Amino acid sequence: MPKLMDDGTGTVPRRRSETRPAAGLVRRLRRNRKAGWTRRMVAEHRLTADDLIWPLFVTSGRGVREPVGSMPGVVRHSVDEAVKAVREAAGLGVPAVALFPYSDAGVRDERGSEALNPDNLVCRTIRAIKDAVPDIGVIADVALDPYTSHGHDGLVIDGRIDNDATVPVLVEQALVQAEAGCDVIAPSDMMDGRVAAIRAALESGSFKDTQIMAYTAKYASAFYGPFRDAVGAAGALKGDKRTYQMDPANSDEALREAELDIAEGADMIMVKPGMPYLDVLRRLKSHFGVPTFAYQVSGEYSMLAASFEKGWLDRDRTILECLTGFKRAGADGILTYFAKDAARLLDE
Ligand code: PBG
Repeated sequence: MPKLMDDGTGTVPRRRSETRPAAGLVRRLRRNRKAGWTRRMVAEHRLTADDLIWPLFVTSGRGVREPVGSMPGVVRHSVDEAVKAVREAAGLGVPAVALFPYSDAGVRDERGSEALNPDNLVCRTIRAIKDAVPDIGVIADVALDPYTSHGHDGLVIDGRIDNDATVPVLVEQALVQAEAGCDVIAPSDMMDGRVAAIRAALESGSFKDTQIMAYTAKYASAFYGPFRDAVGAAGALKGDKRTYQMDPANSDEALREAELDIAEGADMIMVKPGMPYLDVLRRLKSHFGVPTFAYQVSGEYSMLAASFEKGWLDRDRTILECLTGFKRAGADGILTYFAKDAARLLDE
């Protein structure tokens, strides 16, 4: 054993044995990681197909599967193709799908009137799915942007998105979709007071069991770009949505949004986008303990899909890692364009 000497630096060199893990080290976190069986045994979270909600785009026509340019691997389905695709998702164990209509310029007007047409594309799709695949949950958005010529989620009056003029229209839209057989109404419009108004209307109609999944903390995000392309709103949108969607700088405000949505009768809340907002997801889940969902949005999908195409990221491992991250952050489920791929991977 060399003698310990002061080397003049003010620190006494440590004994060799102290620079190595001691023979009797008690805490070795690697022990629990030594083999697959023990990693499985100590895993804190487990992703299953039950955690996945598949958002899909519908369009008019028959036999149509039209690729969305900015979302490689994603297509717009005509109603008949949507039914086939949803049957497949159900077979993979995916509990629910969320429907988004592509409407061409001809259907759009100032007031988004097509939203209230009981025979619009979304309503026809809801009926077809409920008819053919009754055991899968069907979620439909409430917001006017697929139907307005200006691309906003609400009515524009004197150059502003008018909250109180919009809410009754959203209520009508929710009722039309509930009437078509929709299981879950998902208001994505971010108008104040809309959850209470929709809940009251569902209660007084014959829709007491229709759930509301509120887009609670929906941020004004650049990550929605490819979605707007997919639903044909990209060219339509005038300005931005910052007077109604949340500021990405805020998270206390998300707690206030959640408090209101829950008090107003939401059965489930949601954070959107997903990966850049996992802190918000964790805060909401910890604070309220209600069923809380995350939406891995179009831009997150496209960013990953582009990397997979380039061979920069391993597709299968990356998808499962990201989705597991949502679970760890507190999600009860994830809306993801990878839902079917992930369900297939989990099945293997
Ligand atoms: C519409 C709506 C949007 C998304 C879901 N519902 C876009 C928006 O608010 O502009 C985005 C979904 C995605 O990007 O995948 N109100």
